[in-house]
Amino acid sequence: MTTEPRDFTTIGVIGLGTMGAGIAEVFARNGFDVIGVERDEDGMTRGRGHVENSTGRAVARGKMSEGDQRELLGRIRFTTEMADLEEADLVVEAVVESLEVKKAIFRALDDIVAPSAVLATNTSSLPVTEIATANSRPGRVVGIHFFNPAPVQNLVEIVRTVVTEPAVLADVEGLVGRLGKNPVVCGDRAGFIANTLLFGYLNHAVAMYEAKYASREDIDAAMRFGCGYPMGPLALLDLIGLDTAYEILETMYRQGRDRLHAPAPILKQMVTAGLLGRKTGRGFYTYE
Ligand code: CAA
Repeated sequence: MTTEPRDFTTIGVIGLGTMGAGIAEVFARNGFDVIGVERDEDGMTRGRGHVENSTGRAVARGKMSEGDQRELLGRIRFTTEMADLEEADLVVEAVVESLEVKKAIFRALDDIVAPSAVLATNTSSLPVTEIATANSRPGRVVGIHFFNPAPVQNLVEIVRTVVTEPAVLADVEGLVGRLGKNPVVCGDRAGFIANTLLFGYLNHAVAMYEAKYASREDIDAAMRFGCGYPMGPLALLDLIGLDTAYEILETMYRQGRDRLHAPAPILKQMVTAGLLGRKTGRGFYTYE
């Protein structure tokens, strides 16, 4: 028996930092109604600011009209109340990479969303199975992992656990296609496909920089001009955020014990000193 793929209409996004705001924008761009949840008013204002900046850039480049920008923003309802997610048929959680915080959210969602809703986490490296089992319907939970910047990068990794219902997986694959992005499916292992491969390389670049083997500009230029990467590894780390990168490496290293993922010491030092990359104005490079 074949069943019709599910038609999602209202998408909840929890956490409107760089990734969450980008994810909210992607859904709103594609005609979905979005409910964007933040902890407090400041977070909500920052989240709205991210979407305004990102779409404002598209307007400035003549890629979007001001009217379309207004409509897109009008499709996102910003709120500080998790209870407003009641109408959502899919919720994507994109808060800080903390297992405890994510599990608490999935526990709370039990009493808020309809039993038929699909729940997703945008975690980069935490165990989706553990997050899923904090909820009473783990079969309806998947990982939906977007890449930064979410409005631009065309990949979404869909992470299935041993209990994910096949129909849920198929529905989410269909949905990602509707966003104009390429879905890839993988199992629940820290780093999934892309970060497992990418972060070994990024970490190696940091070690090379730390050893003063070459300048940051030359390391980046080598990969851009020699290998056709859109950004060099150190500039990319500044975009991702050094704190996020450190957490991803640490989690992968703890789980897989592959020395490729043992974070280069200078990464931790830079995080401790608040050099987190673009978001704090300074990382491997300095930003205005
Ligand atoms: N938000 C929205 N749109 C953005 C954007 C942002 N933050 N940054 C750039 N864009 C858009 C621009 O508006 C522009 O759009 P149009 O082509 O429609 O005009 C387009 O992206 C290209 O931007 P620019 O011309 O300003 O700059 P660029 O050509 O140098 O591209 C880049 C910038 C898209 C960031 C590109 O350098 C790139 O793809 N870099 C690699 C990024 C990458 O590897 N991401 C994965 C990180 S790993 C990850 O995310 C996983 C994880 O778990 C941490």
